Amino acid sequence: MAQNEDAMVLDPNQASLALRTGGSIPLVGFGTWQMQGDVAYQAVRHALDVGYRHVDTATVYDNEDEVGRALADSGVPRDQIFLTTKIPPQRRGRVDETIETSLQRLGTDYVDLWLIHWPRRSKDALSMWRDMIRVGEGKARALGVSNFDIRQIDELTADSGHVPAVDQIPWSPFHRDPNLAERLSRRGVVLEGYSPLRSSRLAHPVLGAIAGRHGVSPAQVVLRWHVQHGVVVIPKSARPERIAENFDLFGFMLADAEMAQLDAL
Ligand SMILES: NC(=O)c1ccc[n+]([C@@H]2O[C@H](COP(=O)([O-])OP(=O)(O)OC[C@H]3O[C@@H](n4cnc5c(N)ncnc54)[C@H](OP(=O)(O)O)[C@@H]3O)[C@@H](O)[C@H]2O)c1
Repeated sequence: MAQNEDAMVLDPNQASLALRTGGSIPLVGFGTWQMQGDVAYQAVRHALDVGYRHVDTATVYDNEDEVGRALADSGVPRDQIFLTTKIPPQRRGRVDETIETSLQRLGTDYVDLWLIHWPRRSKDALSMWRDMIRVGEGKARALGVSNFDIRQIDELTADSGHVPAVDQIPWSPFHRDPNLAERLSRRGVVLEGYSPLRSSRLAHPVLGAIAGRHGVSPAQVVLRWHVQHGVVVIPKSARPERIAENFDLFGFMLADAEMAQLDAL
């Protein structure tokens, strides 16, 4: 079963998915959690150099300044980059101030996607979501959530009439929930998978065998599995060779039997 398959379109350079709110999100992005200072700056610069056009950060990652500087110094035009940041739920009541700070740090006047980082009490989530909808216009091209289950998404939607464009959740062959994927897909919510490698057992023999057959690494097999399922994936690395490897996913194709083997992990 391919999640988000209906929405999958191919760009000249890389695959992307249409968002219900308009525009599209590149299937492969660059994660920046647990990188700060020069490590974050160099990693994002390298990611943009090797072709990533989608970068994921968050207020709590404490690296929006470095991400912003890397974007500016890369020379890649702003409109060719898909930029995500996230607001922690504790900022309820300070939504305007939080987006202004993010935009200032990132050196841009809009983000492409703005997520509630994780759910808290439902009353708080509802009021934060309403504020984000009000503020979002112009400052965030799309709004979404992270770590939300279906009940929490339906609650936001029922209260505001505004369906989140994306749910960013942990996802890998070792950590997935086909039932949730199906329900997100029915609501037109794009599934964005995080911690694809961290939540995988990269030394697993099934990954090794498939990787050997294609002449790629186990990490590339995992990331290609996301792409073929139409799941957005945002691997993080601080190492130049891995940053390049994790984006080099379009020169091989997993067979249906291999996809099934990975699904069964
Ligand atoms: N919304 C949320 O709550 C949430 C939570 C977690 C993550 N995220 C987002 O998702 C992104 C990715 O998740 P993540 O950072 O948790 O984990 P990840 O991308 O699955 O894995 C990163 C780890 O794998 C290593 N690695 C990277 N490429 C590798 C390769 N080719 N072979 C072997 N090891 C490799 C990295 O080490 P090196 O750096 O040394 O290469 C790092 O230790 C985050 O950076 C963040 O943007 C969101």
